[in-house]
Amino acid sequence: MKTDVAIIGGGPAGLLLSQLLMRAGISTVVLERQTRPHVLSRIRAGVLEAGTVEVLKAAGVGDRLLREGIPHDNCYLSSDDTLFRINLIEGCGKQVTVYGQTEVTQDLYDAQDAMGATILHEVSDVALHDLTGDAPFVTFRHDGEAKRLECRYIAGCDGFHGVSRPSIPADVRKEFEKVYPFGWLGVLSRTPPATPELIYANHERGFALASMRNPMLSRYYIQVPLTDRVEDWSDDAFWAELLRRFPPDVAASIQTGPSIEKSIAPLRSFVCEPMQWGRLFLCGDAAHIVPPTGAKGLNLAVSDIFYLSRALIAQYADGNGDLLARYGQDALARVWQAMRFSWQLTTLMHRFPDQTGFDRRMQVAELSQLATSPDARRLFSQVYAGLPY
Ligand code: APR
Ligand code: PHB
Repeated sequence: MKTDVAIIGGGPAGLLLSQLLMRAGISTVVLERQTRPHVLSRIRAGVLEAGTVEVLKAAGVGDRLLREGIPHDNCYLSSDDTLFRINLIEGCGKQVTVYGQTEVTQDLYDAQDAMGATILHEVSDVALHDLTGDAPFVTFRHDGEAKRLECRYIAGCDGFHGVSRPSIPADVRKEFEKVYPFGWLGVLSRTPPATPELIYANHERGFALASMRNPMLSRYYIQVPLTDRVEDWSDDAFWAELLRRFPPDVAASIQTGPSIEKSIAPLRSFVCEPMQWGRLFLCGDAAHIVPPTGAKGLNLAVSDIFYLSRALIAQYADGNGDLLARYGQDALARVWQAMRFSWQLTTLMHRFPDQTGFDRRMQVAELSQLATSPDARRLFSQVYAGLPY
């Protein structure tokens, strides 16, 4: 097998890169470990930055997003019983759009099918070879047979547990990590959202978040200890704890109902430098992980793909390799800004096990500054709705 760009991983990053490159006449093969239904079964945040919407439209997958996505001009923060609004339009002139990652992935699959893309599912034993030469290749198994894919470039879009990042020599990689001492218990329920826009709650009992997927599908989270298991939380126990963490008038608007999905996710911040090594380019979760607090995971994957697709298209269009040579530098500049925002918002909104009275007062003071300072809200809006690429 031969292609221009081998893409390891058929999640949002891999599918979007394949879509953008194919539209530019660059051939791709996507190698995905799981089945398509498994990829589409993942429940992930769907708060799209303005830039993400533009990239998806440029990839030709914006139609359903624009029809069904829910534009938000504001988000809300609460501190115990006080609620305040952050007007994103006033802050930075941009909206965010609520549209589930599953829908983004489905739209990408549909578009890739229409383009006749080569996406191989249930591959195994993927290994990357000759990354520092000019003829890298990928070996893997598919349909019970050993395969070899010749290519010019390899995009590592295989997530945090993939094979691409470890293919960069350990003595070259610098990895930066922070693991948070709590997790998020998330529930999906076929109930109307409590409020039209998102509310992030800081409460002395812990963090909570009210979000949604559509007008009849709500998504809620509460911070829980890392020792908790999903089976420790009945629906009734979840709803009772959730209602205690929002201001009373917000709690009164929450319609409870049976959970159709319930899971606990750990929170970590992680960045691998460099994001490129020879002909290998890391994108999305393969290179970095953010705590979900700032809803940056999918958006950072999209910005990486913006930079890499632009660079590869320039390389193929006129042999100009300048953007390709600086891909990691360009992507990381934006990754670190989103990483800082996600860390800061996580630190601001959660109750830490070893938190002192002073720490709590610092949280209250920062929330008070956001509530009263237009400049503080402007800075928040600029990163939350999306820094420019
Ligand atoms: N070979 C082939 N495919 C692999 C391998 C492998 N060795 N390892 C992992 N994969 C696949 C996974 O099955 C997954 O479908 O790579 C894909 C990686 O997709 P994601 O983990 O979704 O990562 P990414 O495309 O970067 O999207 C980032 O997804 O996980 C969320 O919160 C994250 O919103 C963010 C977004
Ligand atoms: C979600 O809807 O799952 C969601 C929204 C915003 C976040 C995190 C998760 O910051």
